[in-house]
Amino acid sequence: MKKTWWKESVIYQIYPRSFCDSNGDGIGDLNGITSKLDYLKELGIDVIWLSPVYASPLDDNGYDISDYQAILGDFGTMEDFDRLLDEAHKRSIRIVMDLVVNHTSDEHAWFLESRKGGEDNPYKDYYIWRETPPNNWEAYFQGSAWEYDKVRKMYYLHLFSKKQPDLNWDCEAVRKDVYKMMNWWMEKGIDGFRMDVINLISKAEGLPDGEKTPLGYTEKRDFVVCGPHFHEYLQEMDHEVLSKYDLMTVGECIDVSIEEAQKITGEDRHELNMVFTFDHMDVGNEGGCKWNTNRFALSELKAILNCWQMGLKEKGWNSLYWDNHDQPRAVSRFGNDEMWWEESAKMLATCLHMMKGTPYVFQGEEIGMTNIRMDSIDDYRDIETLNAYKVYTEQMGYTPEHMMDCLYAKSRDNARTPMQWDASANAGFTTGTPWIRVNPNYTKINAESQLRDEASIFNYYKELIHLRHGSELIVYGEFELLCPEDEKIFAYRRYLGDEQLLVICNFSADEVQFTVPDILKEKKAELLIGNYAEAAYSEELTVRPYEAKVYYYKK
Ligand code: NOJ
Repeated sequence: MKKTWWKESVIYQIYPRSFCDSNGDGIGDLNGITSKLDYLKELGIDVIWLSPVYASPLDDNGYDISDYQAILGDFGTMEDFDRLLDEAHKRSIRIVMDLVVNHTSDEHAWFLESRKGGEDNPYKDYYIWRETPPNNWEAYFQGSAWEYDKVRKMYYLHLFSKKQPDLNWDCEAVRKDVYKMMNWWMEKGIDGFRMDVINLISKAEGLPDGEKTPLGYTEKRDFVVCGPHFHEYLQEMDHEVLSKYDLMTVGECIDVSIEEAQKITGEDRHELNMVFTFDHMDVGNEGGCKWNTNRFALSELKAILNCWQMGLKEKGWNSLYWDNHDQPRAVSRFGNDEMWWEESAKMLATCLHMMKGTPYVFQGEEIGMTNIRMDSIDDYRDIETLNAYKVYTEQMGYTPEHMMDCLYAKSRDNARTPMQWDASANAGFTTGTPWIRVNPNYTKINAESQLRDEASIFNYYKELIHLRHGSELIVYGEFELLCPEDEKIFAYRRYLGDEQLLVICNFSADEVQFTVPDILKEKKAELLIGNYAEAAYSEELTVRPYEAKVYYYKK
C-alpha cells in the first residue's frame, strides 16, 4: 500500500457559518476562522475541510452556489480567504475546499443563461431540461424533482431543492467549465476538494421512473447513483485537474456500494482518494427513512464498519467519521450525552481514531458538543428539516410532538449550532445575534474550559491525533473485528509487523467482562490510551461504563 500524507492526516471540518464570527453580524466568517488557527494547531490536525464559502443565495446554506470564484459577503472577501490560506499554510495546515458541482444555484450565471433557451445558446444544455417531467423522481428535500421554469417554459431536474438545479454532466462544455474552475482554485494554492454528492453526476439513460416504496416515496437510486458515465467523468477530471497536483480528494457518495467505492478509491484507477459513505449513519433506519428515534443495534453498526474496513483493505482507503454538518452529534446518538457525556465522547473518539482510514473531526466534536432541544419548529433553519417537518406532519401521519422528537434525534441543525468557545454570552461565538440558537449547555461545554482541563475531551483528541502521527501501526496496520455479536462491546485488533493493538470500547452504561483473544494471550500489554484511570491488566478484563482502552503489544 502506497504511503501518502493524506492517509497519515487528521482532517478537521469547519462549517463556516457556525464557527467564529469576527464582525458581530451573528454569522461565522473567514477572519473568524483565521483567528482560531492556533486553536486548531494546538489540537494537532493536519487539514481543514471548509464547507462552502462561495457566493450563494443560501437556500441550502451555501450548498447552492451562484459563483464558484467569489466569496459570499457574509463570510468576507477573497483577500480574507487568501489570508486564511496563507496563515494556515504557515502553520502547516492544509485547506481542502468543498466542491459542489452536481448542481449550482438557480441564481448562477450558467442557469440564468440556460433558462433563456434558444438554439444558438451555448448554455442551453448546461442543465437537464424536459418539456414535461419524464419521470416520478422525488427530490431529497421532498416534492417532485422537476420544476417548471416560467422563462424557458420547460421543466428542469433538481435532486435537492428547486433552487439547486442539477448540472448536465453529459454536456462537455459543463465539464470543461468545472475543470477550469477547479484548476483556478488549485493554482491559488488550495490542497484538495471534498466533492459534494459527487456520485450523482451521471444520470441513467432515458431517466426511467422509480418504483414506489412501502413508505410511499419513489426510489430513484438505481438511476442516479454511480450512473453510466460516473467513473469516466472522474477519470477525465483526474486527467484534466487532479493528476497535476499533490492534493487530497474525498467524494461524498450517497448509497454507494463497497464495489463502487473500491473502484472510486482504487489506487490504480485515477479517480478519488476517499469516499464518504452513509451506511453507518443509516444504522437503525427503516426503509431508508431517517426520521425516527430508534436506538441502533451495536452489532449492526459493527457489521457495517467492518464491511467497509475489510472492503477497502487492499484497494482504496476509508474515511472515518461520526460527525459532520449533516448529522446529529455523535455523542448524543451513539454515546450518552447526560450521565456519561465525557466518557462516551472519548470512547467514540477512540473507537474511530484507532480504525484504519483517515479520521475526520467535525467542529465541536473535540469538545463534546451535543444535540440541541429546540422548543419550536421556528427555531430550526435547515431546509431539509423544515420541509420534512411539513411533509411528515401533514402527509405521513406523524404528530408534531413525535416529529419534534425525531428532529431532536436527527436534524442537521444539531450539528450547526454555534461553536461553543467559552462561557460568555452566545458562547463567545458572536457579539451580535447568532443566526441559529446557541446550545444552552455552552456554560458547561466550551473550548475554554476544555483547554484548561488536562483530562478534557479536547486533550484526549489531541492525544489520539498525536498517537496516530507517530504510529505506522495506527495508520497502516490491518484491522480485525472481535466479538461481532456483542451488543455492548466494540473491540478490534490492529496489526503490522511485530506490533499489535487491542482496542476495547464499551458502548453501554454497564460494567462488562471482556476476554482478551487467544492471539494476544501471554503477551506483555501496555496501555496506550484510555478514558479512565488505568486499572491492572489481565486477560479477563472488566470494562467500565463507556470505557475505552487501547493496549499495545510487541512480540
Ligand atoms: C450534501 C451536503 O453535505 C449537504 O449539506 C447538502 O444539503 C447536499 N449535499 C446538497 O448539496
